[in-house]
Amino acid sequence: MLKLGVNIDHVATLRQARYRTAPPGRPVEPDPVAAALACERAGCHGITAHLREDRRHIIDNDILRLRDSIKTRLNFEMANTPAIVEFALKVRPGIVCLVPENREEVTTEGGLNVVAQESALRELRKRMNDAGIEVSLFIDPDPAQVEASARVGAQFIELHTGRYADLYHQKAARNEEIQRLVQAATRAHESGLQVNAGHGLTVENLQLIHLVPHLVELNIGHSLISRAVFVGIETAVREMLAAMQGYPG
Ligand code: PXP
Repeated sequence: MLKLGVNIDHVATLRQARYRTAPPGRPVEPDPVAAALACERAGCHGITAHLREDRRHIIDNDILRLRDSIKTRLNFEMANTPAIVEFALKVRPGIVCLVPENREEVTTEGGLNVVAQESALRELRKRMNDAGIEVSLFIDPDPAQVEASARVGAQFIELHTGRYADLYHQKAARNEEIQRLVQAATRAHESGLQVNAGHGLTVENLQLIHLVPHLVELNIGHSLISRAVFVGIETAVREMLAAMQGYPG
């Protein structure tokens, strides 16, 4: 069964829009941990949170509280920077997903360039695995990046579906991008990697994602939190899980 990991960063974005400078102890809302627990009640399989260097949404204490509260797996999204690496080794989430980070971007824009950082990523992968943490690499559906990810020894890749989502309304281009995703997932599976996917996915556009083989988990945030404004987060998660039911597995 295709799993759903809910990215709760945008719940924290809403909180920070009002309470970024609130003194410690002051009640603030909405609470990303409460949101994560509601997603779990609705049947999601994991919670994803990205602690960015600039702490624009998720803050350190959110991660600590998530680790201690959720019953599913915490997927800790992070850049490979010394302070965040030390924090991850202290927190020991179930899995880390390594992403590129750039302060000017609104959201994670491109995939990680694994080819260019292969030896550094292999070292980091070993440190994480030695601490009992699995490693996923967020990459574009590019055969060279898939092969480098396998050489790094990562347990998972997460295929970046942002370009597919952006091209969704241009039929020829989006079909080409689906083919790139199909080929990348096939190659990853043959290399022993487990395959996740995410970025920009919605109830509507995930139907064609069903064509991509070997997927284990989708990580979805923005469209779920947007839908939650109208129907509540539990219903939004249930709707997404229902839309994922058709995945052939
Ligand atoms: N996967 C990764 C690695 C991401 O960086 C993000 C965005 O934070 C997502 C999945 C979820 O993307 P979206 O919020 O567009 O669903």
